[in-house]
Amino acid sequence: MLILEHGMQNAEPKLFTILTSISLVLIFLLLVNKSLAQNQTLVKQNDKEQLGEQLFNDKRLSKNQTMSCSTCHDPALGFADGRTTAAKKVVSLGDDGHSFGNRNTPTASYAKFSPLFHFDDKNGVFVGGQFWDGRAADLTSQASQPPLNPLEMGSDKALIVKRLQADSNYNAAFKRLYGNDIWHNTDAAYHAMTDAIAAFEKTAVFAPFDSKYDRYLKGEYELTPLEDLGRTLFFSNNNVNCHTCHKLTTSKEDDKFEVFSNHQFHNIGVPQNPNLLALGQVEADFVDTGLLAHPDINDLAQKGKFKTPTLRNVAVTAPYMHNGVFKDLRTVVLFYDKYNNPDNTINPETGEPWAGPEVADNISLDELKAQKLTDRKVDALVAFMKTLTDKRYEHLLEQEN
Ligand code: HEC
Ligand code: HEC
Repeated sequence: MLILEHGMQNAEPKLFTILTSISLVLIFLLLVNKSLAQNQTLVKQNDKEQLGEQLFNDKRLSKNQTMSCSTCHDPALGFADGRTTAAKKVVSLGDDGHSFGNRNTPTASYAKFSPLFHFDDKNGVFVGGQFWDGRAADLTSQASQPPLNPLEMGSDKALIVKRLQADSNYNAAFKRLYGNDIWHNTDAAYHAMTDAIAAFEKTAVFAPFDSKYDRYLKGEYELTPLEDLGRTLFFSNNNVNCHTCHKLTTSKEDDKFEVFSNHQFHNIGVPQNPNLLALGQVEADFVDTGLLAHPDINDLAQKGKFKTPTLRNVAVTAPYMHNGVFKDLRTVVLFYDKYNNPDNTINPETGEPWAGPEVADNISLDELKAQKLTDRKVDALVAFMKTLTDKRYEHLLEQEN
């Protein structure tokens, strides 16, 4: 009895030790498992981004296999179209070798910061989405359009999915990321493709935040006096008005992750581009109605409004505006100044008086009101916009000068 009791007394702490050890092992296994699961999610995410990158650069997405997303959004050229075709970069040539779109290809860099397309009740304006008219709510929906657009990649879902499925690497990657059944349904497989492309577009490759301006904010670069004047003017409340539209509504001046757009829609009175009309792809009386061209919008008060573009990489992604009407950043700044400066009457690119707006209604005149600019101030704003160039494109600025 005694022995037994004694033994029992000993057994309790032993049992306790065993139980503790078991629970420790369990906890350990649980943690390992959790971190494995986290790693797996991470691996999956990386996998998806890599798949997206391959798809972004894959010409098989176009009918005649002549172009990929990167043909028009060249990663070496600020994710814009650098091709010099008959359209002189104003608009992009399609896969059929003769069709042109009717809008200037914007940079796809920093596009991920545009919120879902929505109406902002507080400010009474439409905000966000992708494309100049916001007609794609987000990047996934955006990526589904160019491959099927007859003026762009001109293909169809079934053909694209067939080609992807036939590629053993894609075949396996799609199954791994989207399930073994993914190839059973064309729509699902096509959607998976757009999902992977969007994942790639959300990586830091598209938004490295490493321009001179970003380095200046980190104390790694000193702005020249001209660049600094441009910065002051850009953000100033009573001189110029750029920040009214080209600054996130949520950010403060000199915010670390400023994308230089509030993603709101405005008509700033951009004139028609005679070079676009001369291409003969659109009717002679063609008017780009902007936001009114969004399939869900029929309110005439939205006519002529376009999504405010980011100014990141703007110095290396000429020409400018939805129709590429201006070739030079300096012209853009002078164009804004004409609203406030009665002496500024001539468009330096044409040598003729500024042409009237493509759409004369709904111009955001209140927001465009500012003090007139001097030559130095114009230069300063241009110099500041050049500092918004990602590091890997800085050599393009030098080439230009
Ligand atoms: C033939 C040239 C061309 C090809 C190919 C092309 N794009 Fe575009 N992209 C454009 C044009 C032009 C626009 C603007 C069209 C509009 O606003 O109506 C645009 C707009 C965009 C935008 C919106 C940017 C913004 O700020 O609103 C993104 C993102 C984008 N493209 C990504 C892609 C992806 C992803 C692919 C491949 C699946 C692709 N593009 C293929 C010419 C092209
Ligand atoms: C009322 C809002 C608003 C204000 C104020 C404004 N912008 Fe813009 N900006 C826009 C919109 C909208 C567009 C596109 C218009 C279009 O294509 O029809 C644009 C286009 C541009 C472009 C061409 C970008 C490209 O990729 O094509 C530049 C450069 C630019 N703005 C710089 C400035 C500067 C510099 C200022 C201050 C002097 C300024 N903006 C003030 C809304 C504004």
